[in-house]
Amino acid sequence: MIEKKTQTIIVTGASWGDEGKGKIVDYLASEADIVARFQGGNNAGHTVVVKGEKYKFHLIPSGAIKNKTIVIGNGVVIDPKVLFEELNMLESRGFTPSLKISDTAHVIFPFHILLDGIEEETKGNYAAGTTKRGIGPTYSDKAARYGLRVFDLLDESIFRPKFNRLYELKLKQYKALTGKTEDWDLDREEIIQNYLEYGKKMKPYVISSAYYLNSLLDKGKRILFEGAQGCLLGIDHGMYPFGTSSNTWAGGVPGGCGVSPTRIEKIIGVIKAYTSRVGGGPLPTELEGDLAHQIREQGHEYGTTTGRPRRVGWIDLVALKYACMINNYNALAITMLDALEGVNPVKLCVGYKYNGKIMDSWPIHSEIIKKCITEYIEMPGWAARPAEEWSNIAKQGFDSLPDEIKNYICKIEEILGVPISVISIGPNREDTILKEQFWD
Ligand code: IMP
Repeated sequence: MIEKKTQTIIVTGASWGDEGKGKIVDYLASEADIVARFQGGNNAGHTVVVKGEKYKFHLIPSGAIKNKTIVIGNGVVIDPKVLFEELNMLESRGFTPSLKISDTAHVIFPFHILLDGIEEETKGNYAAGTTKRGIGPTYSDKAARYGLRVFDLLDESIFRPKFNRLYELKLKQYKALTGKTEDWDLDREEIIQNYLEYGKKMKPYVISSAYYLNSLLDKGKRILFEGAQGCLLGIDHGMYPFGTSSNTWAGGVPGGCGVSPTRIEKIIGVIKAYTSRVGGGPLPTELEGDLAHQIREQGHEYGTTTGRPRRVGWIDLVALKYACMINNYNALAITMLDALEGVNPVKLCVGYKYNGKIMDSWPIHSEIIKKCITEYIEMPGWAARPAEEWSNIAKQGFDSLPDEIKNYICKIEEILGVPISVISIGPNREDTILKEQFWD
């Protein structure tokens, strides 16, 4: 008899990424059996701090340090070089995660990385400011049905002809975009040998994510689906083209893992106490000057993947309401409240005005968004305090939070209509207040 309990939770970032999902996933992973990624690649950057030690992940699901089974679903794009670098890093720090890799996940090759930069240059004002990890070109080949999948690396007789076709095509694209060939120094045979070797090393981990995950659900196991980036960067429901190439919202799970929407029980959105964004495109609540500097420094807002300083702004409840609508979140987790300390007053964006009228939706099109005037309410901020004091507050629970923070949280809940059930006030796993048990 299989025990009836919550078996599936999805965590997605509700904004432009970097909301602090890694920490929330790590927290929820404690009671999961499996942590699975369903989209993106090594453009992601998740930092988890455990006992003062920092772990940075780009490709491997961040549940890895909880010794859970971790799954890279079919919707992820894999750079095998990064995969093995991360596995080696984990091994050198005492972790040997049980890893499963989907046979139908697409593979990133060196020419995808090269073309990522070149394609960006051709986009002019519409460049997204990508992480240059080859994500867009790999997803393009997937959609165009030129791409190679993990399965193809496992057998040379399948790999060679498919790879040769892709290599020729990419070389043609490179010539067409740049008009030159002299700095194309990607040796065909060298790549073939490297990737066949990667294939050999990957073989023990390869599974069908759909069969694997569904059979585990049939056995009563619990799966946590870990989103990368954020909803507003998504290919279908984000601010196109200023985003990434995958479905970053909860809807990415069925496509990116082969698990039906009817099997999903809970969806949790991660929001930050303010907004941040790295890369191009409008950021309606963007701050500049001293205040931006203060928040950026207090929040250590520098990209985990690229080291770029992140743009920062006030919390944008218009955009978040849209993310809440499409994901239909059961609950929210709010992070980085400690990083807003000493900012007084704090502002919350509650409306976008376009052509003199308040809009009743988030206008999704960058051309409209950049012409919108943002409307705010102001609330009293909270005082700065030493890190130990934040940790003590977390230990004592919700009631010991400063009143200004409680009021801020209540206002956000009231406007978004979704309960905030996880409150993070520091980088460590322990600096988290949980108002609800998700795995019941
Ligand atoms: P790409 O995913 O590398 O193609 O980049 C597309 C856009 O998404 C750029 O604006 C990146 O800065 C942004 N982006 C990609 N991954 C992340 C992430 O993990 N956090 C925040 N922004 C990201």
